[in-house]
Amino acid sequence: MTTDIAPSIEELRAHLARANQSHLLAFWDQLEDDARTRLIDDLAAIDFDRVPGWIEQYVRHKPNFAPKGDIAPPRSYAFDDTIWDQAQYRLIGEGLLRAGKVAAFTVAGGQGTRLGYDGPKGCYPGTPITRKPLFQVFAEWLLAANRRWGATIPWYIMTSPLNHDATVQFFESSNHFDLDPAHIMFFPQGVMPSFDMTTGKILLAEPHKIATNPDGHGGSLRALAASGALADMRARGIEHISYFQVDNPLCRVVDPIFLGLHAAAPDSSAEMSTKVVSKTEPAEKVGVVAQVDGVTQVLEYSDLSDELTSARDPDGRLRLRAGNIAVHAISVDFVERLNAGGACHLPFHRAEKKVPCVDPTTGRAIDPNAPNGIKLEMFVFDAIPLAGKHTPGKGSIVYEVDRVDEFAPIKNADGADSPATSAALQTERVARWLEWRQHPVPRRADGSPDCVLEVSPITAMTKLDFQSMMLPEVNPGAKVAL
Ligand code: UD1
Repeated sequence: MTTDIAPSIEELRAHLARANQSHLLAFWDQLEDDARTRLIDDLAAIDFDRVPGWIEQYVRHKPNFAPKGDIAPPRSYAFDDTIWDQAQYRLIGEGLLRAGKVAAFTVAGGQGTRLGYDGPKGCYPGTPITRKPLFQVFAEWLLAANRRWGATIPWYIMTSPLNHDATVQFFESSNHFDLDPAHIMFFPQGVMPSFDMTTGKILLAEPHKIATNPDGHGGSLRALAASGALADMRARGIEHISYFQVDNPLCRVVDPIFLGLHAAAPDSSAEMSTKVVSKTEPAEKVGVVAQVDGVTQVLEYSDLSDELTSARDPDGRLRLRAGNIAVHAISVDFVERLNAGGACHLPFHRAEKKVPCVDPTTGRAIDPNAPNGIKLEMFVFDAIPLAGKHTPGKGSIVYEVDRVDEFAPIKNADGADSPATSAALQTERVARWLEWRQHPVPRRADGSPDCVLEVSPITAMTKLDFQSMMLPEVNPGAKVAL
């Protein structure tokens, strides 16, 4: 039964022994042929030469990401600042869009555990009245953008092996939200093996299956190359990637000002740029962009001391307030450079998780009620310090936008960043746009809108589109979808 694969299994045994992971073949003799094939496939996907290093660095020890050195706020281009010429950068960005040089890229591989939603997060109803799935909101942005700039903006969507088929099926059953499927490409991100927290051994999910987890949104930088998406972009003449997360229904899928700044600001390396919003509460769970010894990078909220998080400027504003909303402009050249000579490697971050597994000695299934495993993930923003590394005087530019206009994430079932807070923020945005036109909006005593409002990007991408629109009357308690 095994003669044709026996030589390779012997090699594999030796390879696993060298990495101290022989237990992964503990059930080999009891496995049917197809289970053996699946196990071999799983094993072949793991870079065992690196496994001992990962265990030492990330499993046995907790890497310390606490920033060291001189930490200062980044220089940024703020939306409400008049010292820079927004119109000029808008024109440049619009030129890139018209010339077909921009692609949209959504990272949608996360497991959405915190939201407690059983399906790809992009299928989650993200708007307060029409309850449009998040994917549909972005699709409508692209429909509007294609129309406005006479372009065909291709859309790349990174899934994970856990939600890939469900995501593709969702688009198919929704007629791709009227976008041409020839310009949408789905590809799954890579995975990492999950490790036993105490022994450092790779966990088996089943006797013939390695326990794995998606390799983090940082895995997108290698998945773009490995999937052929990068080559597809090259073939289409794409130069810049507009990167965003699936969880923010207010995301401007492509933003000409941001793209213009990224491509042409004098201090930009045009490699990787970031949008931020001003963080007002120390406890808000967003990473912050900072300069560490002069190099721009994102410091994750969990890695910052209370002292750094709550330090204030003399004017009372938080000193480190450039909150990362995980919207980046990334050049195709940069992604290629990161993948030159093999897959792009970023540092791993470790998370302690409950990982169901089988005991390799007894075969008993274990469904842990406390964390037993370590998952390793890469974060895309760890590529930011690499931007401009070879271009002195240039780096990664930071664009501060109005949070009411662009940030209403849906991450948790309740509390902060939940469907309820996102709905309130989406309403507030439309209310402000109406009031900007001096159109009355009913507000409660505490100032919050006494109504529910929603706007499709097809109706208006920014408040400027309200300028010439017929606006509806909004009565107290009304629900108005535009
Ligand atoms: C993230 C950022 C944080 C930022 C905030 C803004 C991290 C570690 N932190 O926090 O700095 O301020 O967003 O909203 O990212 N994803 C994948 N594959 C994966 C893991 C995640 O595609 O393997 C995608 C998810 O689908 C989601 C996004 O990445 O779209 C965010 O991931 P998540 O882990 O939820 O990050 P946050 O903690 O929300």
